[in-house]
Amino acid sequence: MRFERSHARRAVALAVTSGLVLLASACGGDDGDGGGGGEAAGGALEGRGPITFATGKDTSGNLVNQVAAWNSQHPDEKVEIKELPESADAQRQQMVQNAQAKSDAFSVLNLDVVWTAEFAANRWITELPEDQFPDLGKLLPSTVDTGKYRDKLFAVPVTSDGGLLYYRSDWLQKAGVQPPKTWDEMKAACDKVLALPEAKGASCYAGQFEKYEGLTVNFSEAVNSAGGVVVGEDGKPNVDTPEALAGLEELVNGFKNKEIPAAAITYKEEEGRRAFQEGKLVFHRNWPYVYALAGKTDGSSKVAGKFQVAPLPGKSGPGVSTLGGHNYGISEFAKNKATAADFIKFMSSEERQKANVEKTSQAPTWASLYDDPALNKQFPYLAPLKASIETAKSRPKVIKYGDVTTAIQDAAYGALTNKTPPKQALTDLQTKLSSLITQ
Ligand code: GLC
Repeated sequence: MRFERSHARRAVALAVTSGLVLLASACGGDDGDGGGGGEAAGGALEGRGPITFATGKDTSGNLVNQVAAWNSQHPDEKVEIKELPESADAQRQQMVQNAQAKSDAFSVLNLDVVWTAEFAANRWITELPEDQFPDLGKLLPSTVDTGKYRDKLFAVPVTSDGGLLYYRSDWLQKAGVQPPKTWDEMKAACDKVLALPEAKGASCYAGQFEKYEGLTVNFSEAVNSAGGVVVGEDGKPNVDTPEALAGLEELVNGFKNKEIPAAAITYKEEEGRRAFQEGKLVFHRNWPYVYALAGKTDGSSKVAGKFQVAPLPGKSGPGVSTLGGHNYGISEFAKNKATAADFIKFMSSEERQKANVEKTSQAPTWASLYDDPALNKQFPYLAPLKASIETAKSRPKVIKYGDVTTAIQDAAYGALTNKTPPKQALTDLQTKLSSLITQ
């Protein structure tokens, strides 16, 4: 008891200090709008009782089970799921509106990895004392990094995400081709596969090209996989380059040459998954969650037992994934923050993550789960997934991420829909990003 109390006092002290640091930095001309305001001690993780959990539409189907496991053990601290839309941008919009209204309607937030800087700088989420999350050192380091802002912890990684190339192993085998390592190999494989009678009417490839966060992901992967960058290691945008152009042109030409079906301009993750499951694609770029769903033998997938995954292909060798994933943070305006912190600990525990992998094929953040021999045997996607995550590139870690991603989406969508020549789109994007990313 005594330990707990002094521990809590320390947490308050920490929160007060960090609150002041953040307050100072918000006044220091950072590129955020300051926001937040209010009590410096807002980070104290106090109060127990029922909480809510705001999260994007659960396409995995297993979240209710995870939350039910918590609820059965914590009858006085139940978690109510507040399900938000499927698209990342729409989720962000609702969370931002909620935070701007200082509403306590959302306690724990399931945050896309790209939102940490914005939510932390605006103090919409509470800084988390690292010593209350002793298992952080056992998670993949790149995932922990996504939960930090200015070296301080604001959110705990619960799922990671790395892009994978799903392919029809039955068709490739019949056509006598190996999974491709480059875009040219992929197109050559399609020439052979699409000549098979069973592949009649299918298209070569699709990713996510609707105008939303998934397009930022797919555009960044194309640029990185051609040797370019959107924002360089030095934090500066550098997208008006021959390498970035080669990446964007690959996608633009894919649509022009009908290797990518015209319908893919409306694909988010779920539309792409359905097309692949219906047998309309030879190759499909998507996240690991698709593995379990496309493999279902209940009649919902036509490709169960007929697909495999490989690393993403690139221009002259293996491609580069964009790092995805989700971290749990606590709303600054929430009640019952002590319960919220415990719920985050529970959901990020090795036991819960293992249970989730077994059901959903979502990417865990615990390093040990990728090395577990039994799991690897059962889930052969884990090895290419780990490689995808370890070599993945992060999207820009900036406070104005909402504006940055909109600029990227505008540029990429303009080029893909033939409204802007690719070179022009990149020149314009460079100008726009340079004005948005000034630090
Ligand atoms: C997945 C990723 C996330 C990404 C989103 C794009 O949910 O985990 O990081 O932003 O897809 O649609």
